[in-house]
Amino acid sequence: MTLTTDIETDFHFRKPTKEDGAAVWELIKGTKVLDLNSSYSYIMWCEIFSETSIVAEREGKTVGFISGFINPNSPDSLFIWQVAVNASERGKGLATKMLRQLLHRTEEEVQYVEATVSPSNKPSQSLFKGLAKKLDTNCDISDYFTSNDFPDEGEEHEDELLFKIGPIKKENK
Ligand SMILES: CC(C)(COP(=O)(O)OP(=O)(O)OC[C@H]1O[C@@H](n2cnc3c(N)ncnc32)[C@H](O)[C@@H]1OP(=O)(O)O)[C@@H](O)C(=O)NCCC(=O)NCCS
Repeated sequence: MTLTTDIETDFHFRKPTKEDGAAVWELIKGTKVLDLNSSYSYIMWCEIFSETSIVAEREGKTVGFISGFINPNSPDSLFIWQVAVNASERGKGLATKMLRQLLHRTEEEVQYVEATVSPSNKPSQSLFKGLAKKLDTNCDISDYFTSNDFPDEGEEHEDELLFKIGPIKKENK
């Protein structure tokens, strides 16, 4: 029985296709903390933004996903929309590994990683601060979307702070 995880061999990483959309929707739903968007949006995302997104599989099951895109307002920035790791696979470095794989893929154009994080999401804050540390660069945090920007859905939506990591040196990716 394997007691430790070898991230390189236990997980399979690849670009998503539209066939991944349904499993990604299930994964996001299972996190219970991420905003669950329509199934259409994940199918569309996996098909159109596959170059800047990634799925991780273990024994054929989708256990990790990141949706990213090149920010049209700052083309040297990879904007990370959602990151999800199945609860059973957390704390093994999987989210960090997926982010680094995306940085490898986009290394010619990308110098910054951007993501919004709500103040209560400590794992997400640790993920992005930890990434900055591993890349030996800065993590600047600023106001971005406030709770007032969101519609009234019964429960108040938290603020979303902008985490901007970089500049990232090519040799550190
Ligand atoms: C946030 C999430 C993606 C992290 O995935 P993960 O694979 O466990 O992350 P990693 O193992 O790569 O850990 C990255 C860093 O975060 C830290 N971390 C992970 N989970 C943590 C937790 N629950 N509390 C505090 N720190 C945590 C790790 O120790 C590591 O720190 P280090 O760089 O100093 O070593 C995962 O917890 C998740 O899917 N959560 C639900 C969805 C979510 O909140 N997504 C983020 C918002 S888009």
